[in-house]
Amino acid sequence: MKAVGITRTGGPEVLGLLDLPEPSTVGSDADGLVIEVAAAAVNPVDLATRSGLIPTALPAVLGWDLAGTVVHAPQGSGFGTGDRVMAMTAQLGTGVGSMAEFVRFDAAHVARVPDALSLTAAAALPLAGVTAVQALRRTPARSGRRVLLVGAQGSVGAQLALRLLDEPDTRTDLLVRPGDGEVWRELRAARPGGGAVLTDTVRVEGKAYDIVVDTAGAPDLIEAVCPGGVFLSLTPFSAPDPARRPDVEFTLVGVQLNGDDLAEVADRAARDVGLRPRTTVLPFADAAEAHRRLEAGGFRGKFVLVP
Ligand SMILES: NC(=O)c1ccc[n+]([C@@H]2O[C@H](COP(=O)([O-])OP(=O)(O)OC[C@H]3O[C@@H](n4cnc5c(N)ncnc54)[C@H](OP(=O)(O)O)[C@@H]3O)[C@@H](O)[C@H]2O)c1
Repeated sequence: MKAVGITRTGGPEVLGLLDLPEPSTVGSDADGLVIEVAAAAVNPVDLATRSGLIPTALPAVLGWDLAGTVVHAPQGSGFGTGDRVMAMTAQLGTGVGSMAEFVRFDAAHVARVPDALSLTAAAALPLAGVTAVQALRRTPARSGRRVLLVGAQGSVGAQLALRLLDEPDTRTDLLVRPGDGEVWRELRAARPGGGAVLTDTVRVEGKAYDIVVDTAGAPDLIEAVCPGGVFLSLTPFSAPDPARRPDVEFTLVGVQLNGDDLAEVADRAARDVGLRPRTTVLPFADAAEAHRRLEAGGFRGKFVLVP
């Protein structure tokens, strides 16, 4: 089978199509669910793995997100052949990448794709959606809390923003790139918990927020947290030095595989069209093109690769 992978780290040109055996379904392997992949999305972690910023064993198949159809389902797994499913793999921990024609998974990390979602739309959701759900859970509940979300225009940022804007007892200010201001002002206006949409860090009020959630890597914004507040970072490579603000609780979010959270992401996106990222579909063979365009910055939505 074909898979998008690397045999060495470097620029986008190191990406290629690997020729690998299909996952086995005999012996102890029969316990896994095998999915024929319809689509696998590209995430920033794939770029960091490809470049060598995050070490990985080589050769490596890349990819964390996928959607497809079950072709092998063990008895008692809760799934059957032909089911439309989506899944997230912690590629760095497991060595199992999603950008392959077939992938074997533990059924506990798989969710059904609701009828309202195409497999392409579903493939764009797992990592960003589950990260947002788990990050939100780490934000302390405070009556009338004031939140600043940095990078609402990104994939994780958008999932977080739309959830936060739906919370009535929370005022959420969004910090986005200047070119993204207008679209977020419209989205904010249609939801109950919206505060300001800011496009410049100089407009951010100091020591004003109970919680700052940083999805874009803006460590200086720890100064926007009020004493006793929380700075929640999703970007370990651009996190602030917690010693800078001893009066602020610093939390680094690390996403965990969780089939229930994935199902929540799928169900919510089925009900709310705003939570479905805009997708740009490319064949596996053009993975390098997706990486180049993402590295250039300014891309909005998700690249989804198809076999
Ligand atoms: N900790 C975890 O478990 C976890 C899980 C998932 C993702 N992440 C990380 O979370 C981050 C966001 O992921 P994603 O999937 O949402 O990526 P994404 O879709 O590429 O979004 C990132 C956004 O950040 C913006 N950005 C980058 N640098 C910025 C800066 N200095 N100021 C303002 N905006 C900036 C980008 O805008 P431009 O395109 O205009 O530059 C882009 O819109 C990535 O670093 C990713 O690795 C962490």
